[in-house]
This record gives sequence, C-alpha cells and structure tokens, in this order.
Amino acid sequence: MKKYIVAPSILTANFLDLKKDLDNLQDAGIEWIHYDVMDYNFVPNLSFGPKILSDIVNKYNFKMDLHLMVKIVNLSVEEYLKPFVLKNVEQITLHFEALSETQIEDFIEFCQKNNLKASLSINPNTEVKEIEKYLSKIQNVLVMSVQPGFGGQSFIPNSVDKIKELQKIKQENNYSYLVQVDGGINQETYKLVQQAGVDMIVAGSYLVGENISNLRERVVNLEG
Ligand code: DX5
Ligand code: ZN
Repeated sequence: MKKYIVAPSILTANFLDLKKDLDNLQDAGIEWIHYDVMDYNFVPNLSFGPKILSDIVNKYNFKMDLHLMVKIVNLSVEEYLKPFVLKNVEQITLHFEALSETQIEDFIEFCQKNNLKASLSINPNTEVKEIEKYLSKIQNVLVMSVQPGFGGQSFIPNSVDKIKELQKIKQENNYSYLVQVDGGINQETYKLVQQAGVDMIVAGSYLVGENISNLRERVVNLEG
C-alpha cells in the first residue's frame, strides 16, 4: 500500500496545555501539523488565527498545513492571507463553497507568488465536478469527511468515492495535486481512505487530546 502523510489537527487540544501536545507530537515523529482556522461565519465555530500560528512556528519546526474554514469579506484575499504566511507554512486550504470565482483565482495567484501549495476543500455535499476547472492549477484537494466546524464527528463514507474519483482524474490528465481527507479518521476509517488512494490524512481527536497516552502507537497504526 502506498505511503501517505499523517497530519494531526490540534483543534482538539486543551489550549492551556498546547505546548505539551505539540511536544508529544514532535516526540512521536510528526512532521506536519494541520491548523484549523474558523471564523463563526462559514462554520459555526471559532478557533485560532495568525498569533497562535506565529507562536508555534517560532518554537517548532513542523511543516504547517493551514485549513481556513472562513469567508473572506471586507478584505482582499491577499490582505486576509498575508498574516498567515509565516515560516514553515507550506500549504493553505480554502473552501470552494466559501469563495467567489474571483476569490479562488486570487487565492491561486497568491499562493503561486508566495511559494505556497494552493489547496481547495470540498464539503460532504459538494461534488468533485464542481471544482474540476481548478484541478490543473492547484497542488492539493482536501475532501471533507465531516461537516467542517468541529473535531470528534463521525466519518461520512461518501468521501471514499471522491478520493477515488480525484485520483482517477489526476491520472487521466497528468495533474499533480495530492488528495487529502479530513474528519472522523480513526483506527478503522483510515483503512477506507487508504484503499481509496489518499495522499494525506488529517486526524484530530484520534491523536490529540488529554486522554491520548499511546500517541506513537496510534500514529504508527494510522500510517498503515
Ligand atoms: C473539522 C476540522 C478537522 C478536525 C478533525 O472541521 O477541519 O480538521 O479537527 O477532527 P477529527 O479527526 O476529530 O474529526
Ligand atoms: Zn481541518
């Protein structure tokens, strides 16, 4: 089975103990951190922004995978994203459903200019064909396997077919994007997305939180 990346989401951390969780992830050999930004507008929850991101990248060497569940209003895409362009930020995901066509074009251009991987996410109710025209221009597609907004929800199985469809389109057209999945991944559901050919798995509550004692074991488990 092919190798993929496991990127823990720190959304389910106890933020008073964030350093402890990040140290544990570092000790467990984690290379990528998935950083969920929420705005109480696109999703009914609020998380963290550029300040905590800046504190993390100044202290750790994780590659940062930013997942912005936000609408961009009153600011240009560039103005909104600029504060997030920090050391080790490698990839930024925005949601197809949250943006206008012009904003998507601006986003892709912004990432090119700033040497970032541009990633578009689709919600469980959005079909792959809706983002087809962008697939030649982006470096990653994030398939949501839960409704965005909260950690700890159950995996929605229609994401498996979307992963397969995206890998098929990629192969047929010689595109270069990776396929990532986010939501409800645990010791059982990872097998479904692994078989579908996923390139990067996000896992929140399965890897991060106060009750996780056997982290390294869980990571090895998810790595298949
Ligand atoms: C949900 C976030 C996810 C979340 C995953 O809106 O985008 O990254 O933290 O958490 P789990 O793995 O618990 O579903
Ligand atoms: Zn996420």
